Amino acid sequence: MTTQSTTINFQQYPQDQLIELSYVSQATHDMGMLSLMNLLEDAAHKNAHKKLTGVLFYDTGIFGQILEGYPEQVAHVWNSILADHRHKNIQVLEVGALKERRFSNWAMKFYGSDEISKYVPELKLHLKEGALSLPDEILTLMRSISNQSSEGVFQVG
Ligand SMILES: Cc1cc2nc3c(=O)[nH]c(=O)nc-3n(C[C@H](O)[C@H](O)[C@H](O)COP(=O)(O)O)c2cc1C
Repeated sequence: MTTQSTTINFQQYPQDQLIELSYVSQATHDMGMLSLMNLLEDAAHKNAHKKLTGVLFYDTGIFGQILEGYPEQVAHVWNSILADHRHKNIQVLEVGALKERRFSNWAMKFYGSDEISKYVPELKLHLKEGALSLPDEILTLMRSISNQSSEGVFQVG
C-alpha cells in the first residue's frame, strides 16, 4: 500500500455509502493530558452530531485515527482536521467504502499511551518508528481493537 494524497474525492461515493478514512500525523507540540481531553471532548461532541464514529490513538507525539461515516460528514470534519494546527505531516493510510462500522458505539474512542501498551503494544512500536514505514500494519493494528473490550479505556460518546 502506498500512502495517498490528503486531497480526497468524496464525491465519488454515493451519499448513503459508509466510508472509512484513516491517517497518522505528528503533533506540533507534545500533547498533555488536558489538551488531549479537550480535543477529544470537542471531537466526540461534533462527531455524535454528524453520526461519525471511530478511534483516536495518541502516543509520544504521534496521532493515528480512523473515522467512519457518510461522505458529506467525513469530508466536513476532514477539512477541519487538515486545517488543525495541533498536528502536521498528515498521511492518509486508506480511504474507502465500508460495509458496516467497526466502532459503531464510539463517537471517538481514545487510546492513549497506557491503553496502547495494554491492548495494542505492537502499535506502540510502529508509531514510535516514525509511523509510515509500515502503513498496512498500522492500519491493521488500529482496526484490530474494534471488537475488544473497552474496559479501562477512556470513553467519549
Ligand atoms: C488529531 C486530531 C483529530 C481530530 N479529530 C476530530 C474528529 O474526529 N472530529 C472533529 O469534529 N474534530 C476533530 N479534530 C478537531 C478538528 O480538527 C477541529 O479542531 C474541530 O473539529 C473544530 O473545527 P471547526 O472550528 O472547523 O468546527 C481533530 C483534531 C486533531 C488534531
